[in-house]
Amino acid sequence: MSRLALVTGATSGIGKAFAERLAAQGHDLVLVGRRKDRLEEFAAAHPEVTVRTLAADLSTDEGIDEVAQVCATEPLSLLVDNAGVAHYMPLAELPADKARELAHVEVVAPTMLTRAAVSGIQDRGEGTIVNVAGMSAFSGPAPSSVMPRRAVYAGRLAFAMSQTLSAELEGTGVRVQVLCPGVVATEFHERQAMDLSAVPRMSADEVVTASLRGLELGEVVVAPGVEDARLLDAVFAADLAAFGAQSPKLATRYRTS
Ligand SMILES: NC(=O)c1ccc[n+]([C@@H]2O[C@H](COP(=O)([O-])OP(=O)(O)OC[C@H]3O[C@@H](n4cnc5c(N)ncnc54)[C@H](OP(=O)(O)O)[C@@H]3O)[C@@H](O)[C@H]2O)c1
Repeated sequence: MSRLALVTGATSGIGKAFAERLAAQGHDLVLVGRRKDRLEEFAAAHPEVTVRTLAADLSTDEGIDEVAQVCATEPLSLLVDNAGVAHYMPLAELPADKARELAHVEVVAPTMLTRAAVSGIQDRGEGTIVNVAGMSAFSGPAPSSVMPRRAVYAGRLAFAMSQTLSAELEGTGVRVQVLCPGVVATEFHERQAMDLSAVPRMSADEVVTASLRGLELGEVVVAPGVEDARLLDAVFAADLAAFGAQSPKLATRYRTS
């Protein structure tokens, strides 16, 4: 069985921590990011495994297609869709190019890469897709005073897609996980000029530990910083209850006469 993992956003933070851990476990790697020097540095530091570097920009259709082609043709045992940007801003003030970049990197890229990888993994009978989202996926009901300016930071989409896809692929040998860290000590916030160094943060390495342990536990939604897993079960049970409660009859509160 091949042990070949493709990790996007492998030049820093969580993606780099995945790459380090997977190399230590003997996986060959395809590493994606825009900063080619960092990818090459990683490859040079890990001669014990085969590292292919792919300098691609996942905010463009060309970049996504280039990586998707690799996902479709290489015998991946693991795909980690991790690349991400934040651009926290009120939606009306978010420049169109930044909104487009966010949607491409956070939504289009994971969708297209997963789509490209999945049938090959199915044919080989075994493999895993990890989509990195975030605890913001749970933050929809939070008031603006608690979670401002994040409407397009689309953790929620990766979250919903991964859960549904996991069910869709049940019994095929393809496992899907959505990884939802809280605040992590990486370059993520400083790259948009936010200093979170005073905020208690999890390490990227611990996030990777949670992901890999979550796979052993069979968890689809992995929340590394949530101690009580029953809280997650309660969210999913409430989602299902609301979904199951729908009916073709107009609900009383919407009737005007
Ligand atoms: N840090 C947190 O607090 C936190 C919390 C929850 C979820 N997350 C999620 O975790 C993931 C990893 O973030 P991180 O915290 O490790 O941040 P990071 O250190 O800033 O890493 C982000 C990675 O994404 C890559 N990337 C960004 N835009 C790209 C593009 N257009 N094309 C290709 N690669 C691109 C970057 O590589 P290049 O710049 O070299 O292209 C970098 O390797 C993100 O999806 C983020 O949303 C982070």
